[in-house]
Amino acid sequence: MAEKAWGAVFEQATDARVEKFTESVSFDRRLYAHDIDASIAHAQMLAKVGLLSPDECQQIEQALGDIRREIEQGRFQFKIELEDIHMHIERALIDRLGDVGRKIHTARSRNDQVSTDLRLWVRDSIDRIDARIVALQKAFVGRAERDQGCILPAYTHLRRAQPVLATHYWLCYCEKLERDRGRLAGCRSRANVLALGAAAVAGTSLPIDRQHVATKLGFGAVAANSIDVSSDRDFVLEFAFALAMIAEHLSTWAEEWVLWSSEEFDFLSLPQPFCTGSSIMPQKVNPDVLELTRGKTARVIGNLTALLVLIKGLPLAYNRDLQEDKERIFDSFDTVDACLELAAPLVEGAELNRNSIAARLDAGHLDATTLMEHLIRHGMPQRTAHDMAGKLVRKALNRGVRLSDLPLEEFQAADALLDASVYDMLGPEQAVRAFVSYGSTAPAQVADQLLHWKQKLNAPATIS
Ligand code: ARG
Repeated sequence: MAEKAWGAVFEQATDARVEKFTESVSFDRRLYAHDIDASIAHAQMLAKVGLLSPDECQQIEQALGDIRREIEQGRFQFKIELEDIHMHIERALIDRLGDVGRKIHTARSRNDQVSTDLRLWVRDSIDRIDARIVALQKAFVGRAERDQGCILPAYTHLRRAQPVLATHYWLCYCEKLERDRGRLAGCRSRANVLALGAAAVAGTSLPIDRQHVATKLGFGAVAANSIDVSSDRDFVLEFAFALAMIAEHLSTWAEEWVLWSSEEFDFLSLPQPFCTGSSIMPQKVNPDVLELTRGKTARVIGNLTALLVLIKGLPLAYNRDLQEDKERIFDSFDTVDACLELAAPLVEGAELNRNSIAARLDAGHLDATTLMEHLIRHGMPQRTAHDMAGKLVRKALNRGVRLSDLPLEEFQAADALLDASVYDMLGPEQAVRAFVSYGSTAPAQVADQLLHWKQKLNAPATIS
């Protein structure tokens, strides 16, 4: 009983099964560095307002530094009777400093403490994921440069639709990932608010200086409502969502590359160090990293769902349920971090099978849209032009030829005003060149976009 910081009012010891059930140190120990940083800032503030003497503050800072090293060197003893990382560090401080250590929890509760630690962790974790996303964007830009001149069939409904430049295709992922970065930045700004000083739920009667702590810890603002602090996990849920969205993007990319690298598609060769084999079929080279990237998305979505459900029934303010947030958000972070780590080298190491792609481009009449638009330019209403182009595709299909193989008379039968310039719209290269609208796949548009991304990704990071 003497072990417990809160034990004085109790007449009986805690059941060992309850200690096992309620502990969180087995997973929240990973917040140790953030807990120590926050405690140092808190102690410095207590000294500033006269609740600690300068000497006491110095002792605390030094002891916290020693505790940090002990944890980092694996010499620190964790025991579930001490519940969580906060109690462990406080107890270690008391063991070293006696009464001075007993002052660290002045004007503080574990409710605002855990929120502060988690906000610091979310902030760091966002920065790490953001850097990984930038690395992946760079990998796509690298591909975009290398694959210049290559044309791919773009699909809708998983049917060949229109020809596009490979460069345009890869830059599409840069756009998606940039929105992911925006979500992370938004989440970071809302997480970057000081919780400490809210104490348990009502604040404190002691003369603390919260702005001082916020400045020391680099928080952009001080939370204005202590009840909100005690209950708020929005920043955890937002981060879980931002991670789920990243996982969704990676999953759809992985799914596509599983297909593209199959013998059936044969569009892409994956780098061998990123493939695995079969224990029974000697010929197999399997895309397991891509499959697991797709598969692990399930747990990231599951974690988000778990967090949403966790919060939905809680009355204000802190409830112990909130302890369940950590394993879910840690798992989402670890999972997405690992997927992103492998995605960049995979993107860099794959090769397009240009011959196989070119063969597929030749069939499929991917130039039917630019033919239709040519007819529209000649004054034909869009619906009529669509019909005409459809009939010409049918003719080509029946003869087993490409649109560009049809004789001029066939085109003139559709529209007497057509001349040989119709052939300028046909074939994948010419069709690609014909798409000139902003954001389209035309070479000039795509060259602008490539330049934009190269400049953007070489500029210094601006997340705040
Ligand atoms: N381990 C707890 C958590 O993660 C810390 C806060 C505990 N607060 C309390 N009043 N019991 O939520």
